[in-house]
Amino acid sequence: RDVQVVQRTGSTNSDLVALATEGKADEGVVLIAEEQDAGRGRLDRQWTAPARSGLFFSVLLKPTQVPVERWGWLPLLTGVAIATGLSRAVGVDTALKWPNDVLVTVGDEERKAGGILAERAGTDAVVVGIGINVTLREDELPVPGAGSLALAGAVSTDRDTVLRAVLRSLEQWYERWRGAGGDPAASGLQETYAAGCATLGRSVRAELPGGRSITGEAVAVDGDGRLVVATGDGVQEPVGAGDVVHLR
Ligand code: BTN
Repeated sequence: RDVQVVQRTGSTNSDLVALATEGKADEGVVLIAEEQDAGRGRLDRQWTAPARSGLFFSVLLKPTQVPVERWGWLPLLTGVAIATGLSRAVGVDTALKWPNDVLVTVGDEERKAGGILAERAGTDAVVVGIGINVTLREDELPVPGAGSLALAGAVSTDRDTVLRAVLRSLEQWYERWRGAGGDPAASGLQETYAAGCATLGRSVRAELPGGRSITGEAVAVDGDGRLVVATGDGVQEPVGAGDVVHLR
């Protein structure tokens, strides 16, 4: 694998998007930073973490054999890969909050220990950025209420071990999905995502991009990776973007 390590940068996603757009990075390139000063999250949020306290990396994917409508599965696929990798390598069970927060259990609370940011890089590529809080103790958390693998009882907090495990399962899931032409059902991805998703079956509020919000029960993730919310009277609304709050 082509893994490029930098000591410090603003955002590995911004760097890899730029390289890919200039044609200077091939599929499968991984860019990882020991320290990230301007990490970005979904919905214009920031991703902050002290140097070497976690993993901050981006992977370049070019799923050209997959119809573009199905690329929406990439962040969900990445969530499944993180869940698989963490459970195998460090014995931490995670739950996925749609679309792509990685939750761990600390005491009796569900807390966010990881996040995924997928961004298009030109017409033929997607950069998938992954942030995982690894070693952080309670007093080191950048955001109150966040979690980390250490707080969730990981058997190891060696960042290299975690990175390898996540990359291995990402490669496996990606090949499987791509081999199935991006079909989420045929590749088993849809079922595995649903099984690991903490949002399904919950009562949620979805804050949609235009400012409107809907409340209801999250009942499914559809073929395009959208969360289907049943708002009552048989109305089901697919949500493709926005923020979801678990109500109970
Ligand atoms: C989110 O939770 O909204 C997504 C967070 C994604 C953070 C990672 S860290 C590595 C990569 N580079 C970035 O600037 N962001 C992603």
